[in-house]
Amino acid sequence: MRVFIAGIDGYLGWPLAQHLTARGHETAGVDALLRRAWVAEMGSDSAVPVAPIDERLAAFREHFHTSLPFTPANLRDHDALGRALAAFAPDAVVHLAECPSAPYSMIDHRHAQFVQDNNVSGTLGLLFALRDHCPEAHLVKLGSMGEYGTPDMDIPEGFFEVEFRGRRDTLPFPRQAGSWYHWSKVFDSQNVAFACRLWGLRATDVMQGVVYGSWCPAGDPRLSSRLDFDEAFGTAVHRFCCQAVIGHPLSPYGSGTQRRGVLSLADALQCLTLALENPPEPGAYRVFNQLRDVRSVAELAELVRAAAHSLGIDARILPVANPRAEAEGHHYRPDSNELPRLGFRPSAPIEEELRRLIRDLLPHADRIAAHADRLPPTVRWRPAPPVGPPRPPHPTGKGRHHDQDTAAGPADGGRGSGRPARTA
Ligand SMILES: NC(=O)c1ccc[n+]([C@@H]2O[C@H](COP(=O)([O-])OP(=O)(O)OC[C@H]3O[C@@H](n4cnc5c(N)ncnc54)[C@H](O)[C@@H]3O)[C@@H](O)[C@H]2O)c1
Repeated sequence: MRVFIAGIDGYLGWPLAQHLTARGHETAGVDALLRRAWVAEMGSDSAVPVAPIDERLAAFREHFHTSLPFTPANLRDHDALGRALAAFAPDAVVHLAECPSAPYSMIDHRHAQFVQDNNVSGTLGLLFALRDHCPEAHLVKLGSMGEYGTPDMDIPEGFFEVEFRGRRDTLPFPRQAGSWYHWSKVFDSQNVAFACRLWGLRATDVMQGVVYGSWCPAGDPRLSSRLDFDEAFGTAVHRFCCQAVIGHPLSPYGSGTQRRGVLSLADALQCLTLALENPPEPGAYRVFNQLRDVRSVAELAELVRAAAHSLGIDARILPVANPRAEAEGHHYRPDSNELPRLGFRPSAPIEEELRRLIRDLLPHADRIAAHADRLPPTVRWRPAPPVGPPRPPHPTGKGRHHDQDTAAGPADGGRGSGRPARTA
């Protein structure tokens, strides 16, 4: 197949291009290199060094003996995207090109607007470009398990049968996102489904769990994928592993009883390949829940602690106040049957993947330590209470000033303004 990857320079995109090429597919891609800039804006850097894009492309050519057509463009540049798609004539398009960070979207109004604009407008532009240049191509769009939120019932794959006032229908399962970023994914899902109904496009909307793991092929660091650990772009497992490597306590947020779907990078690549190699019919919009395990944040911290211990690293766990507004104790049982039906067989168990990840990170301990101040959360979901002298009590006792709900605030003594403490 000819697979066009939007977001090819990212954490998933760069390994996916290599994985698909190794399986005999042809790949091309587009990326505006925004992820590099966002992490720099957070005052951080990838733990695993990321080669400049030209060096990445040269390494790809040397290793796979074929070139990777790359377009340095923004998905919102409709003409550039159209030209790239028309030139490559893909059988499938994998859409990874979004800002993937909930905390980044919660920094302030500007960041919320940017994330929604980038993601929703970019996806809309891609849908029109598909319609105009390659309407037969199968779109594999990365959504997130976070779109569903944490309803007090099992989570089906996209749709459920519902009976209301004596009539039955199969409808999209309600989405209850918990960040401006996750809402952008919800809007995308609606737009992708609509484009399939309207124009007969075909799409797989992948509700992906949190992905963990490194991609560091032996012998050529230019082929490695990035691995971030700052509060905005480092996911919990990546932050915990980096904390273990530099001797910092692992810091789950709040009680750590929040449960999430997780899968390794190797499993994510396998699942995306299965989706690509088994396209739906024209006009079909299908939803896959892509995860392997459901774990609580506290369990993940414990698994990282144990993996570090098995490598001779003494790590301890020290929870911090939860900066997010999210349910901590909740039901969580998502279905995930579609990918196993297509042949998904999980690879290494999580314990083994975590050991490999920590081993890959150990040579980069100095890089992590250099940005260790970017690990603790400063972005809060609800604004901090106003700072100033306490107001005098109201004479009638009515309208008395109450502190806002600070239960969700981080343990930073109220310093957090919701902005990253350092920006580039
Ligand atoms: N990594 C995870 O754990 C995870 C979990 C669930 C869903 N997802 C989704 O998977 C996708 C890929 O995630 P990732 O971790 O590889 O993220 P990433 O940030 O590493 O990769 C996204 C890439 O897209 C590029 N990009 C973003 N907006 C663009 C635009 N408007 N035009 C051109 N390029 C643009 C970025 O520069 C980056 O290289 C995202 O849609 C994300 O929401 C990721």
